[in-house]
Amino acid sequence: MQSWVIGNWKQNPATNRDAMTLVDALVSAANTGIDQQKCQLMVAPSCIHLATVSARLQGSSLLCAAQDISTHSPSVGAYTGDCSAEQMADAGASWTILGHSERRQYHRECNNILVQKMSNALSQNLGIVLCVGETQAQYDAKQTLAVLTEQLAVIQTLLQQAGQVADCAEILAKRLIVAYEPVWAIGTGKVPTVDEVSATHEYIKQTVASFATPLANVSVLYGGSVNTANADNFAASPMINGALVGGAALNADSFLAIAGAFARAKA
Ligand code: 13P
Repeated sequence: MQSWVIGNWKQNPATNRDAMTLVDALVSAANTGIDQQKCQLMVAPSCIHLATVSARLQGSSLLCAAQDISTHSPSVGAYTGDCSAEQMADAGASWTILGHSERRQYHRECNNILVQKMSNALSQNLGIVLCVGETQAQYDAKQTLAVLTEQLAVIQTLLQQAGQVADCAEILAKRLIVAYEPVWAIGTGKVPTVDEVSATHEYIKQTVASFATPLANVSVLYGGSVNTANADNFAASPMINGALVGGAALNADSFLAIAGAFARAKA
């Protein structure tokens, strides 16, 4: 199974010039180093850099994702400050991250909003990297699986709303990745054990598969303080189909080293 290593650049870097420096380093190294059949690389720049970054990625093996899309319209409308799925696709994104814990925390994104965003993404043929994960308090209270059940329910709601469940499931099977990102592991240097992540991923896979048979092979990535020192350990688990990388994705060498770990492990 092909693995995925995705760089979520968040609100970085500060300038377009720095974004181009990073993407140039990735393109020149990635085209020689990483076997795309084994590990698909993708970067999610900030919205303002999306068009220039994706233009630079044309002809390379790297894909480009948006970090978010508008809830209110998949296309155009009077929604000041928003960028739609159609605009992101036009700027060169083929995927979008949705439901990142920073969006849930700072923008109060709830399941209703996420279902609408997922629907908007699919209407513009964007793939979806759906982020789920528990907070430290929920982890301490052993509520991880309950939290994930509640967050993953957006997939079932989307299928039900689509009416043609089987057709929608076939489309989602090609356009859905789940990223398990424990909130307490993001940017903290703290990580769960590989056994913990593997057990959680098994639960996510079973839950998603229970919604519709075509979703049985959904890829589940781990995110939260992935770095060059721990990537090999995560990559060794058959339950971990890749990584969603924040801080370490802002350096081309460390991002590509993480991708190399997954490419080797899944060889
Ligand atoms: P860090 O890798 O910086 O912990 O961020 C993870 C993340 O939030 C990726 O979406």
